[in-house]
Amino acid sequence: MSQLKAAIIGCGGVARVHAHAINDNTDAQLMATVDIIEERATKYAHKYGHKTCKAYTDYKEMLKDPTIDVVHVCGPHYLHAPMVIDALKAGKHVLSEKPLAINLEQANEMIAVSEKSERNLGIILQNRYNLASCEAKKVINEGKIGKILGARAFVTWYRTKEYYLDSNWKGTWDKEGGGVLIDQAIHTIDLMQWFLGEVDWVQGSWANRFHPYIQVEDVAEALIQFKSGARGILFATNYYTYDSNIILEIHGENGKIFIEKDKARIETGNESYVVEESQEVKEGKSYWGSSHATQIADFYNDINLGKKHWIGAREAKKPLDIVLSIYKSQGQKVEFPL
Ligand SMILES: NC(=O)c1ccc[n+]([C@@H]2O[C@H](COP(=O)([O-])OP(=O)(O)OC[C@H]3O[C@@H](n4cnc5c(N)ncnc54)[C@H](O)[C@@H]3O)[C@@H](O)[C@H]2O)c1
Repeated sequence: MSQLKAAIIGCGGVARVHAHAINDNTDAQLMATVDIIEERATKYAHKYGHKTCKAYTDYKEMLKDPTIDVVHVCGPHYLHAPMVIDALKAGKHVLSEKPLAINLEQANEMIAVSEKSERNLGIILQNRYNLASCEAKKVINEGKIGKILGARAFVTWYRTKEYYLDSNWKGTWDKEGGGVLIDQAIHTIDLMQWFLGEVDWVQGSWANRFHPYIQVEDVAEALIQFKSGARGILFATNYYTYDSNIILEIHGENGKIFIEKDKARIETGNESYVVEESQEVKEGKSYWGSSHATQIADFYNDINLGKKHWIGAREAKKPLDIVLSIYKSQGQKVEFPL
């Protein structure tokens, strides 16, 4: 099998995690980097790329290179949709960062284009690959904690003034598409819906209390009512005093699963045990977890097998739907499907 030639669009914070994962993968080689800030594209090409890696400032120019097989989209949220669609239409496999998109129109177009395309589209929701998440999913599927009655999730992190002021897109509705919900809490919302299934309705609220210089919410809460009858409770904020461990508990009629960051405590009728990530977080922030590389390797493996990646546009729209429903809710019930 020849190596797949990769490109990264958007050489900012998260791109280095992708670059490392590409370099650690014997199936892949970084051959192009793109950023509207030329210096960033060049720096990434030199630091992480193959010796013939090319740096671009216009991603559409890079897409004309027929030797590029896979495009990693690591740009601002509002550009995920156009970058993904352009790359798929140029015949590339695409792996994009979360969230899928910032609104339903973009999301639906991405589903339509990707399902028509013969190429693979994957959306990074790496926490589904955490050992704790995989064990929780298995225990739930095997019925070991019985019928799921509810779940509660707490994301209490801290984003500083500099985090927002140093960015020209974070903190805005038109470019980030929201705040703590669409950017940070979406991973935990995704895990909750992955464990609990289809949503019936959502009722929630959001506000900005601590970051007056941004447009979007820095706190939100919701009741997520699942079709199974299970109730999901969510609280998320960006104005705690540090990035505390995320908590996600699943309550079943015969037991409980308590996930704290990357550790799960499983309590069923007759056993109690702990599953914990053994890998160190090698690249990126510790609260991003260590599963980016695992999902990226899985995506490349799917390309080689000619198999569609399991977290495509339709799958990644599920947590986005919950996020968008909370924005819409403002205290009112929002029925699904949106
Ligand atoms: N999965 C995770 O845990 C995780 C963690 C962090 C960030 N992310 C996601 O990664 C994405 C990027 O976030 P970030 O924190 O790295 O942002 P960032 O602002 O640090 O990087 C984005 C980069 O894109 C570049 N860019 C902007 N417009 C462009 C264009 N038209 N063409 C090419 N490049 C362009 C910017 O110059 C910047 O260098 C977001 O979707 C974010 O939500 C995911």
